[in-house]
Formats: sequence, C-alpha cells, structure tokens
Amino acid sequence: MSRLVIVSNRVGPVRDSARAGGLAVAIVEALKESGGLWFGWSGEVSEDGTHGALKTETVGRVELATVDFSPDDYRLHYAGYTNRTLWPILHYRLDLAEFDREMDRAYRAVNERFAARLFPLLKPDDVIWVHDYHFLPLAATLRAMGAEQPIGFFLHIPFPVPEILTALPNHAALVRAMMAYDLIGFQTERDRRSFERYLQEEADAVVSAEGRVRAYGRTVTAGAFPVGIDAESFARFATSADARRQVDRLTRMIADGLQIIGVDRLDYSKGLPERFRAYAEMLEKYPDTRSHVSMLQIAPPSREELDAYIEIRQELEQITGNVNGRYSSFDWVPIRYITRGFQRRTLAGLYRFSRIGLVTPLRDGMNLVAKEYVAAQDSEDPGVLVLSRFAGAAETLDGALIVNPFNIEAVADTLQRAVHMPLDERQARWTRLWDTVRQHDAAAWREAFLTSLKSCRA
Ligand code: G6P
Repeated sequence: MSRLVIVSNRVGPVRDSARAGGLAVAIVEALKESGGLWFGWSGEVSEDGTHGALKTETVGRVELATVDFSPDDYRLHYAGYTNRTLWPILHYRLDLAEFDREMDRAYRAVNERFAARLFPLLKPDDVIWVHDYHFLPLAATLRAMGAEQPIGFFLHIPFPVPEILTALPNHAALVRAMMAYDLIGFQTERDRRSFERYLQEEADAVVSAEGRVRAYGRTVTAGAFPVGIDAESFARFATSADARRQVDRLTRMIADGLQIIGVDRLDYSKGLPERFRAYAEMLEKYPDTRSHVSMLQIAPPSREELDAYIEIRQELEQITGNVNGRYSSFDWVPIRYITRGFQRRTLAGLYRFSRIGLVTPLRDGMNLVAKEYVAAQDSEDPGVLVLSRFAGAAETLDGALIVNPFNIEAVADTLQRAVHMPLDERQARWTRLWDTVRQHDAAAWREAFLTSLKSCRA
C-alpha cells in the first residue's frame, strides 16, 4: 500500500485528540489508519529557520517531520503574505488585504525551502496530500525537483470569485502554480465554480464534463469535497462525564433560561461584531428575551500581532461592555465572552446545553463548529442551528435556519424564532442535520478525496 504524506502548516497534535481542532483530528485519523508522514512547520521560530535541523518524531505509525521558521519567514510569510494578503483576499476582504513584494517573495521562498526539505523524504509510491493556502505553489516546486508522485491539494478556506482574486497582483502566477497538482479539492461547489471560472476567463481553460480543467498546458481535476467532523466520536464526547459536568453546572446556573452559543477563532471573517449586535437587537426588539436568553461566546485569539486582529478584539470588548451595561440585571448577564479555548469534551457539553448554535461568519470555507453543534445535541430535545449563508456548511446542511449575517435585524428575528421553535420542529430539523453530518463525516471526506486523487493517475 502506498504511504500517505500530509503537508500542512500546523502539524499535530497526534496523541491528544481531545485538544486537537477538527481538521487535525481528520488528518490524524487518516494517518493512523494507513501510517504515513506529516510534514510542516514546527510552530517555532529560530535563527536557522527552514535551514535548521529537521525535527522528527514517531508516534505509533505516524512520523512527524517539521522545520522552524526564521524570524523573517514568520514576519513576511506567515504573518505576512499568508495572513495579510491571502487570508483576507480569499475571504473577500479586499479592504484588509496588503500587497507587498517582499512578502510575496518570502511566500514563494518558504514554499521552495519547504519543498527542498520534503523532497528527500519522499518515496516513489507515496501519495502526497497538501493542505491549505500556505502551500498553493508547493507542488510546482516539488515537480521542478522531479517529484512524480500523485499530489493533491485541499483548500480549507474559500476560493473567491475571479472579480476578487484578480485584484491580487500575482494572481496569474499563483493559479498557474496550482495547476501542478493532480487534484484540487474545494469545500463547496461554489468555490470549485469560482476556480473553474477564473481559469476560463483568465486562461481560456477547457473544462470537461468530469471536472477536468485544462489550462497553462496542464490538466487538473477540480472537485468539491466538503470536509466533515469525526461525528460519532464527537457525539460520544457530548455524553462523556466531562460534558455532563458542564451541562449540570450550566443547568444550575441558568435554571429557567436559554443559552445561545458561539465558538470561533477570534477572526474578522467570523462576523462576531455583527453577531453581538444581532443578539442585542433581539433583546431590544423582543423584551421577553431579556433576563431569559443569554449568549456564551468562546473566541480563542489567533494571529495576535496583526492589526486587523487587534482591532476586532478591541471592538468586541467594547460591544460586550455596551450590551452588558445596558441589558444586565443584578442577577443576569447577557453576554459571557471568553477569549480562551476549551477541550473538545467540554465544548461538546457546552453545545449540548445550548438551545441555539449561532454560526454567522461573513465568509467561511466550511465551519466545523456548525457540524459539532449538531453532533452534540440530545435527540430528545435538540437545539436549533442558526447558520450564515456564507459558511460553506450552508451548501449541504439542510435543516438549519439560514441567515444573512450582514442583516442584523433579520438575524435578531431568526433568533427569536429559534427561541420559540416547538419541539417537533426542532426534532425534525435536527434529524435531517444529523443524517448529513454523520453521513458526510471526516472519514468519508478523506476517502472521497484520496480515492479521487488515486484515480487521477489511473
Ligand atoms: C484556519 C485555516 C488553517 C489554520 C487555522 C488557524 O482554519 O484554514 O489552516 O491553521 O485557521 O490559524 P493559524 O494561523 O493559527 O494556523
């Protein structure tokens, strides 16, 4: 059997899956099943950077190999081109995107050095699966070095319409480099269509009925592979002792009230200020919700040195202060806003207790929180998922209440509707949601992608 090689910017954790994010869990399971190599950034910054010693570790059948970033790699590549240029552009935020040649050069140079460190580790019958926007040109460099193995790429974040992408100064070079992959996977059909349309409009691509796109003298297969969660095990987390403890504590605390929950990395793409405003609008417009419907927002910070992230954090603190000052009573606080992460078992308990899962990104590749919220519910008394139409998950999650997160008043009305939704409707909607989440889980996603990648070469 061929060995699976995974490349992603963040590597691990392999041992403690209770701490890992949804994506890491999906990758770890694939590697544990077949054995394989996981290559990426060590998470450390050192003077030698990618030129330093390769850090290796073996955990069961999984080998980990990582390299450091140099301070310049970190500043210009990670906190530069990937997160000041690509992240905002791919999330449709031209207003936040920064264009800088030095950052652009650093991104390409880091990709080349990563490829140079990975290439000697490869075996002829490996299957290579590269993840996310940090590595768009990696395959092109590996191919130039002589790699002939099947190489697939999965983009975890959105692929924007060509009208947005073409604002990127080097868009043509970047997309041309992507053509070195055999298979490119997107979260949604909408993203896949944007990619195809870009190639048709910018490179006169020819598209076949099977999803093969020919452009720049190369053919790639492009497909939608909506990422899933480890649904059954997450559902088990929700009835674990740890989760039950959280539910009991919350039940004592919020004896006759309801809770809305939001869980997001603190990122401007998640629509948190709009969400807080919609919640406040609900309190204002529907006084029966005051002292009754509270909101718990968990938002672990990330990329904290970037201005856009500093600003969003300040904005949220301000809105929380305003809303709580205005609507709190001496024994009730509307918004509980927590800027740290929790173990997955604890989260599962918090989801299960919450009557409403509020997932309202302005733009999101998939959003696994929406799926985790569904998996954690009690089938006898399930909560309601309120989901942004701009989350990739909205394309497949039939049963959620779909909202436009920019329309604050409509979100407030939808929250009110969710608060009063009768049990039979909640059950009917949840049953449809759970069927989808369970069927299209992380294992199905991996299987579909890897089968498709192998068949590209058949
Ligand atoms: C998104 C991206 C991931 C990234 C994660 C956390 O989910 O798709 O590739 O790892 O955000 O961001 P960070 O910059 O902390 O790795």
